[in-house]
Amino acid sequence: MSDFITKKKRSHYCGSLTTADEGKSVILMGWVHRRRDHGGVIFVDLRDREGIVQVVFNPDRSSAAHEEAKKIRSEYVLAVAGKVHLRPAGMENPELPTGGVEIMVDELEILNEAKTPPFALNEKTDISENVRLKYRYLDLRRPELQRNLILRSNVAAQTRAFFQGEGFIEVETPFLTKSTPEGARDYLVPSRINKGMFYALPQSPQIFKQLLMVSGFDRYCQIVKCFRDEDLRADRQPEFTQIDIEMSFICEEDIICIMERFMARIFKACLGVELTLPFPRIPYHEAMARYGKDNPDIRFKMELTDLTDIVRNSGFNLFKEVGATGGVVKSFKIENGGSLSRKDLDGLKDFVAIYGAKGLAWAKINPDGWTSPIFKFLKEEEVNAIAERMCLNDGDLIVFVADTPAIVNDALGNLRLHLAKKLGLIDPARFAFTWVTEFPLFEYSDTEKRWVSTHHPFTSPVMEDLPFLKTEPGRIRARAYDLVLNGSEIGGGSIRIHQQEVQAMMFEALGLGEQEARSKFGFLLDALEYGTPPHGGLAFGLDRLIMLMTGAESIRDVIAFPKTQKATCLLSDAPSPVGIEQLMELSLKIVQ
Ligand code: AMO
Ligand code: AMP
Repeated sequence: MSDFITKKKRSHYCGSLTTADEGKSVILMGWVHRRRDHGGVIFVDLRDREGIVQVVFNPDRSSAAHEEAKKIRSEYVLAVAGKVHLRPAGMENPELPTGGVEIMVDELEILNEAKTPPFALNEKTDISENVRLKYRYLDLRRPELQRNLILRSNVAAQTRAFFQGEGFIEVETPFLTKSTPEGARDYLVPSRINKGMFYALPQSPQIFKQLLMVSGFDRYCQIVKCFRDEDLRADRQPEFTQIDIEMSFICEEDIICIMERFMARIFKACLGVELTLPFPRIPYHEAMARYGKDNPDIRFKMELTDLTDIVRNSGFNLFKEVGATGGVVKSFKIENGGSLSRKDLDGLKDFVAIYGAKGLAWAKINPDGWTSPIFKFLKEEEVNAIAERMCLNDGDLIVFVADTPAIVNDALGNLRLHLAKKLGLIDPARFAFTWVTEFPLFEYSDTEKRWVSTHHPFTSPVMEDLPFLKTEPGRIRARAYDLVLNGSEIGGGSIRIHQQEVQAMMFEALGLGEQEARSKFGFLLDALEYGTPPHGGLAFGLDRLIMLMTGAESIRDVIAFPKTQKATCLLSDAPSPVGIEQLMELSLKIVQ
């Protein structure tokens, strides 16, 4: 066994050394990031989780270490003992935090060799993500991914410290359980002992955390895995982590206030960023009207303006038709966007087509009037009214879409984001939070042909809206709130229903027969009858939060062992077939 491991021990992390350590004797252990030979002297960038430092093998200092260093290749694991020296004047590396120093090595031991990695770890690689995921343990050596996971660990530690300080109790809830509806499909686990029966992995601990309130725990928190079998996107994973919270004897204000203080704490402690509290709040309908989305990015303007009333009687048939059939005409302006070319504008038309818009009209505002394919159809007073409502100036460009409200909001809401990115209007260093409140309790599902919960069926309605339950369910507001950061939903929650009758009424409105409601959620309905306190809560998506805090482009870059878009793990090759014996034991048969 190596003396380095058993006796001498590591004294410092590579990345921790600075000019203040000059003259110290150190023992370092790490991986060979890069190796260079310079006229007999060998330089190695040695890497560990804290960073990289230059170690120098000079034959005049130790010929044995220098001789051994000749064998070194990329990603070998080394132990070195040496002394911290200041780098000679002019040789400092301002790119590295350790760039002012180098380690003059007296002793080297190669702790292990390494095969040549399938992709370079010491430079930006354009190798496909699939290869990187297959060799995830190597990809995770990259400083960027190490930084992401270290930040994640710090956020988790701060989360526990914050909630413990606020009197929350951490309780673990089961994974082998019954379906918790959060809008996705369940992952099922067959039971061997109870043949033909299945557990569902939780989409969230929702029901259990409510039961903990019934039990009197009063303030609950948990950092917990959730499982959802849904179509994946850049910010979704089939298993992901929530910071899950529930509280009793509270209203919306209490939850919002404590969550804002929580965000302020982790941003300050983990990023050194001071957040301004309170965060702005925007009701759902206003978010849809102004941004076309319920997760608005408020870092830039380009807000949508409704022009339906101005153009519904214009000479442009499409606007007339849309105005007469319950549709809308909305627009936003791109300040100084007049320089966009015809080709750019045609590209925008293709972009909105993705969202179902049948076309896109535009107008450039010039000192001598408008350039626009639809200008000739508009009367002067209509043009003036648009210019006034949208505060137009020379050089501005406006774009319009006319269609159903849903298509117009979807098309313009996404175009707004697309253009802001393309034109560089977003300050990447800004963290813009906003609460979205007053969500509708139900939304109509065209595929299921029934009303479904916007959030989940345990969310309390605004009681004064209950009379609309039979006549206009779409009008009922929910006591729900989402927290949005830079256009991403990082958390959501609600005040819950704590009366059994109201809960039963909701299941009925959702088309769940009494029997079905009992078989799925009977245990919750029963519990509600035994003295349930008023309660509510929220869950943050930890992965999404870390993604935004690190600036990572993909949720996979903040998860140690993520799944692909096809929900597979390329490292372990999961999911995979199982043998016939295992299937028999579970009384399962594969139907092709
Ligand atoms: P919700 O379904 O809104 O609420 O989830 C809370 C937060 O979890 C994150 N999230 C995801 N992150 C990564 N991959 C996914 N597939 C994924 N799905 C959701 C989002 C989201 O805001 N039980 C309720 C919370 C409550 O009411 O207290 C719930 O799960 O950031
Ligand atoms: P057309 O009559 O199809 O040649 O369209 C005349 C102008 O109206 C063109 O600039 C189209 O891009 C635009 N246009 C067509 N459909 C829409 C729509 N749904 N919303 C906004 N503009 C549209």
